[in-house]
Amino acid sequence: MSLISPWRADFPGILALDGEGQTYLDSAATAQKPQAMLDALLGYYAGGAANVHRAQHLPGERATRAFESSRDQAARWLNAPDSAQILFTRSATEAFNLLAYGLEHELQAGEQIVISALEHHANLLPWQQLAQRRNLELVVLPLDAAGLIDLEQAAGLIGPRTRVLALSQLSNVLGCWQPLAELLALGKARGALTVVDGAQGVVHGRHDVEALGCDFYVCSSHKLYGPDGVGLLYGRKPALQRLRHWQFGGEMVRVADYQSAEFRAAPLGFEAGTPPIAGVIALGASLDYLAALDAAAVAAHEAALHAQLLAGLRARAGIRLLGAPRVALASFVIEDVHNADLAHLLTEQGIAVRAGHHCAMPLLKSLGLAGAIRVSLGLYNDGADLERFFAALDQALELLR
Ligand code: ALA
Repeated sequence: MSLISPWRADFPGILALDGEGQTYLDSAATAQKPQAMLDALLGYYAGGAANVHRAQHLPGERATRAFESSRDQAARWLNAPDSAQILFTRSATEAFNLLAYGLEHELQAGEQIVISALEHHANLLPWQQLAQRRNLELVVLPLDAAGLIDLEQAAGLIGPRTRVLALSQLSNVLGCWQPLAELLALGKARGALTVVDGAQGVVHGRHDVEALGCDFYVCSSHKLYGPDGVGLLYGRKPALQRLRHWQFGGEMVRVADYQSAEFRAAPLGFEAGTPPIAGVIALGASLDYLAALDAAAVAAHEAALHAQLLAGLRARAGIRLLGAPRVALASFVIEDVHNADLAHLLTEQGIAVRAGHHCAMPLLKSLGLAGAIRVSLGLYNDGADLERFFAALDQALELLR
């Protein structure tokens, strides 16, 4: 019997796509949204929009309360000890840029930033550009055959000159959990600041920053069934205090004069200008929705779907899986078939998967590939989605071969 998601009906977007004959298997790029989040988004505007942290009038107070209650909710979701450790940015990418700028003053020529070979461009390019500006060394930790960061080599590469260690928790291409406990311990033993890219991991059950013990954790709302335009940056208090202010403007300032100013501490000191108010409030609703689900049931459903995906891919001749995916997604290439041609034929049959380099071009290049097809799952996907995908895949391969 086909796997049924009990949560599918909560997501009007997936139902609308069903009506159009589209099978959505691209949740690692962005997730569909629950009705509760859409209600909160519309509710903020339809109920009377107002700016936050500025006005004493009733609508302003109401908006500020809702906005700050999302910060509390995010802190609970991430198990952060204090809501003041959660900063709202406009995307996860912006959060990485904030970190690369905010830590720049601490780094001296010849010191190292360490990342891994599987990083998304968001956790690569801001560090790469910082390294170029400050004449730092950008060290790239290699992977083993299963797509895991090689611990033995990492132990040799993370050294006394390592000042920042920035690693993904769950690759958006390879779909495997990285051995972060060991890696972060290596970084901490060397006195490095540790940054975790949780953009994918936060969606699939590992979102406890206290357990991780990292200095900074970055994720985004839109993959977490929330609206786009909102990123989250968690920081340990001493780490947050080391950040240099980066965007300047309204509400981030304590005292301003024509020639000088003093700035607020985190979080407001790093949220210059009008923030994405509706988005933050709606993210709170998504997190409320997720927090109310039976986490074990979600994990079991996702694991069963993922097993079905892997079994189907492994059963077909000529398919090469990238790495050893363990959760949420699988990327693959097919012998003698160009991924763009396959993607085109899948698209024609209403299958929405991602094709290309997945914003991890150096990783794909290191695997000798220009691109790959990625199937990624959300909690609303059913077994029938995968059955449609495999039927379309077989038909496409028949044509292409
Ligand atoms: N980072 C997103 C993805 O992997 C957009 O598709």
